[in-house]
Amino acid sequence: MKVMTIFGTRPEAIKMAPLVKKLEKNKDFESVVCVTAQHREMLDMVLELFNIQPDYDLNIMTHGQSIIDITSKALYGLDEVMKKERPDIVLVHGDTTTTLVGAQAAFYNKIKVGHVEAGLRSGNIYSPYPEEMNRRITGTIANIHFAPTMGNKKHLLREGILEENIFVTGNTVIDALLQVVSEDYKFNDDLLDKIDYKEKKVLLLTCHRRENWGKPMENIFNAVKDIVLNNNDVEVVFPMHLNPRIRELAYKIFNNVDRIHLIEPLDYEPFVNLINKCHIIMTDSGGIQEEAPALGKPVIVLRTETERPEAVKAGTVKIAGINEKDIYNSVNILLNDKEEYDRMANAVNPYGDGKACDRIIESLLYYYGKKDSKPQEFSTYSL
Ligand code: UD1
Ligand code: UDP
Repeated sequence: MKVMTIFGTRPEAIKMAPLVKKLEKNKDFESVVCVTAQHREMLDMVLELFNIQPDYDLNIMTHGQSIIDITSKALYGLDEVMKKERPDIVLVHGDTTTTLVGAQAAFYNKIKVGHVEAGLRSGNIYSPYPEEMNRRITGTIANIHFAPTMGNKKHLLREGILEENIFVTGNTVIDALLQVVSEDYKFNDDLLDKIDYKEKKVLLLTCHRRENWGKPMENIFNAVKDIVLNNNDVEVVFPMHLNPRIRELAYKIFNNVDRIHLIEPLDYEPFVNLINKCHIIMTDSGGIQEEAPALGKPVIVLRTETERPEAVKAGTVKIAGINEKDIYNSVNILLNDKEEYDRMANAVNPYGDGKACDRIIESLLYYYGKKDSKPQEFSTYSL
């Protein structure tokens, strides 16, 4: 069975990498990897870590690209690759423009689509934007749906997807995470190795979402600045996304503020090990909302809603919103109320058990008649 995996951005690469490695090793599959390179440097960091050499690299990224730029370049490029390779199935991941265009190009070529990380819904098509709509349309096109959780499966059933085509697998991000996190990790980086993670309260910040560009991001950065100015024991590490819009604002607001460290994006391995050492995570990222709870770190989400409610229900993730005061207060409570901190700092793992890729492989084999039974669904009850 010829399986073509398609991805283009950092989070898709992290979450597809362990699956690509399993497909490459399994004799039932011929694996073809095509990257759009919607991200360049941030994609290459992941390819190198997991030692993946793509068969096709469309190299589409340009600085300050629009969604239309990515869509049109990726669609032309992917169409050509699909006509040449004619895979039995294309696997796309998640909710980016590469995801949607990968599914579209496959559909136009009458090639089957498997959607990894299917069924997450925020209920608001403008948040995350354009990701919520990307994921919904990809779900409409896909033939097979790999839903991380039972909740994600319920969304798909409600939208009329047949149960026989949905496989609950857990999220492959936990497979990736477990491969790289270790308790005695050393960064080999002057700044990160020097920080006293026991005596200081280190906040890890990430922020990149399109719907936060402009005023919301200003509010977020101003709240972070006030938190640092009012708490002498707090340090902030902010690995900045390479998007120039975010970096310009960060340099403007955090200019010369002591104890706020603006650094380049980190490789995946140091990044998750940094999560593991920090006190609190402040983020608008999707993937980090799944990783940090697994490591027992409280997460303050810099958004108004989430398509990942499981860890909110479990109590380790809090939606702070995008107003300066609300963000400030949410973090301040965690900094000063030990009971509240301990309540949130419980390690929970609603998103996976590290076996999502195995379940996806088994599901593909079952779908194509090479296995008699559907693999057992991932459920938090079985952990
Ligand atoms: C994209 C995805 C978003 C995902 C995010 C993960 C879309 C519309 N957006 O958003 O869903 O959550 O990736 O990070 O699919 N850049 C570089 N080098 C890189 C990566 C980005 O220089 O390796 C800069 C470029 O100037 C680029 C800009 O960042 O034009 C924006 O990249 P883009 O992929 O369009 O948007 P993201 O905000 O990264
Ligand atoms: N990440 C990383 N280096 C960084 C910041 C994030 O490797 O400097 C990882 C993080 O662990 C997670 C993924 O990138 O797995 C999240 O990517 P991002 O926030 O760009 O996208 P999202 O998850 O919001 O789509």
